[in-house]
Amino acid sequence: MKVTVVGAGNVGATCADVIAHKELCNELILVDIKENFAEGKALDMWQTAPVNMYDTRIKGSTNDYTKTVNSDVVVITSGLPRKPGMTRDDLISTNAGIVKSVTENIIKHSPNAIIIIVSNPLDVMTYCAYLTANLPSTKVFGMAGILDTARYKAFLAEELNVSPKDIQAVLMGGHGDTMVPLPRYTTVGGIPVTELIAADKLDAIIERTKKGGGEIVNLLGTSAWYAPGAAAAQMVEAIVRDQKRVFPVCALLNGEYGLKNIYLGVPVILGKNGIEKIIELQLNAAEKELLASSATAVKEVMDVLDKMNAATA
Ligand code: LAC
Repeated sequence: MKVTVVGAGNVGATCADVIAHKELCNELILVDIKENFAEGKALDMWQTAPVNMYDTRIKGSTNDYTKTVNSDVVVITSGLPRKPGMTRDDLISTNAGIVKSVTENIIKHSPNAIIIIVSNPLDVMTYCAYLTANLPSTKVFGMAGILDTARYKAFLAEELNVSPKDIQAVLMGGHGDTMVPLPRYTTVGGIPVTELIAADKLDAIIERTKKGGGEIVNLLGTSAWYAPGAAAAQMVEAIVRDQKRVFPVCALLNGEYGLKNIYLGVPVILGKNGIEKIIELQLNAAEKELLASSATAVKEVMDVLDKMNAATA
């Protein structure tokens, strides 16, 4: 099994580190555009193998995609991160060019890879990779839902003073302020969360979750990496171990939830073939309305990308 992580910055390096710790593959390639950066990070990580007791061989490469040949799974984290005051959408023009060229290079050497996008604005960068890769949409999808759900679960675990392991939740929609956490589908050890928490407290947690990425940007001056990196690695794990895990993933919709030709966070089954099934929940009217407004927000940014592509065609 061979995995490539493109982008050796904070998110990419963290993702690679988690993949190696979990021994998800024999060969792990870390690629970056900055001279010697991926080589240095990969060498440092590889030197933790005798301490942390893993076999995954990590190698770095400065933009030499021949090293990525025949990767089974590729995680693309390349692009600029947010700075305080920026929305994820502010990154579109710079990051679209980067994601397009990285995807072209990946496909040239691994035409059958499964591609996981982490670059922002997430939903639209995933769409950009899909347009470039010429692969079925079951093999090109984005990481956001696991991260956003993790934030939601972490806040709930803290508020309820329970183990984060016991919280199950679904979160849908775009990876932005319009994301849709679903209290009706949130349980704590099987107990509906609404039986354990006051409505105003739950609302506050939902609001904090929606702005969870921004909270970290404001604290650090750049975007988060531990949770995004670990979340992307969890998707790699579900694929390489064919776990059939149920996760919210940014997937291309083709009529599901009444939406078409849009990448949006929805629950899916993730296994060796990538997205093996999109799960359609029976949303109520209020939930449907929230999802529709999230879809509208994502569609607006997708239209910006389509216009940019038309201008350069
Ligand atoms: C975040 C970035 C990675 O939500 O989008 O932290």
